[in-house]
Amino acid sequence: MARRKKIYEGKAKTLYEGPEPGTIVQYFKDDATAFNAEKHDVIEGKGVLNNILSEFFMLGLGQIGVPTHFLKRLNMREQLVRSCEIIPLEIIVRNYAAGSISKRLGIDEGTQLPRPIVEYCYKDDALGDPLVTEEHIAAFGWASQQDMDDILSLALRVNDFLSGVFLAVGIRLVDFKIEIGRIYEGDFQRLVIADEISPDSCRLWDINTGQKLDKDVFRRDLGSLTDAYSEVARRLGVMPNNPPAPGKPTLVN
Ligand code: TMP
Repeated sequence: MARRKKIYEGKAKTLYEGPEPGTIVQYFKDDATAFNAEKHDVIEGKGVLNNILSEFFMLGLGQIGVPTHFLKRLNMREQLVRSCEIIPLEIIVRNYAAGSISKRLGIDEGTQLPRPIVEYCYKDDALGDPLVTEEHIAAFGWASQQDMDDILSLALRVNDFLSGVFLAVGIRLVDFKIEIGRIYEGDFQRLVIADEISPDSCRLWDINTGQKLDKDVFRRDLGSLTDAYSEVARRLGVMPNNPPAPGKPTLVN
């Protein structure tokens, strides 16, 4: 069997060259990291759950006309995506205060924000993904003004969509992070939602109990991360028939 070409290995995913030009295979690992990889663990089944959950959100976004890089899920751990040039920004949308905004501005976690707040961080692990302003983005040429207008509109559409989907299953979308890529089509470029959307990149709280169902469970040592992600998958109706068990791969259609 021919060995496929690894393009990039990140903290939670590995990217391989896809079967056709312009495609990439995204492999979801079980690795969990936090605090810029200072904390690391391997959590059996996390990759399977994130693969399925990210597929679910990307397909849903596609259905409401928000373009994404997603093409199709290949198996339990892999999905085929369109190759794109990632804009070096983490785009964060916050509906309630939590995490770094609470620390930075002294707002109690759980406080509803007056409106969704969009923040940008420069994607650079060595620098710890620092918060930047549109001034930095424009001056350093990371994105054009047109890109920024499109990014803001995409981020808010994703927020509306995800907030509604989660609300319907009793989950509050506190905040999330997305990444956006450029796809070139002839003389034109299109922006698409890229990377992944999963409980690794969102804060999700049960509406009634406030229970955390996202990566804060790992960051803050609050219990089983797979239990939390499985609960999200179960509520959304995408839980694999046989929950991921160590050493027992399950085929999912
Ligand atoms: P923060 O409160 O730590 O800035 O995180 C805001 C949101 O972004 C939260 O949903 C977690 C997500 N996030 C990532 O996806 N990757 C990261 O590296 C960080 C720091 C946060």
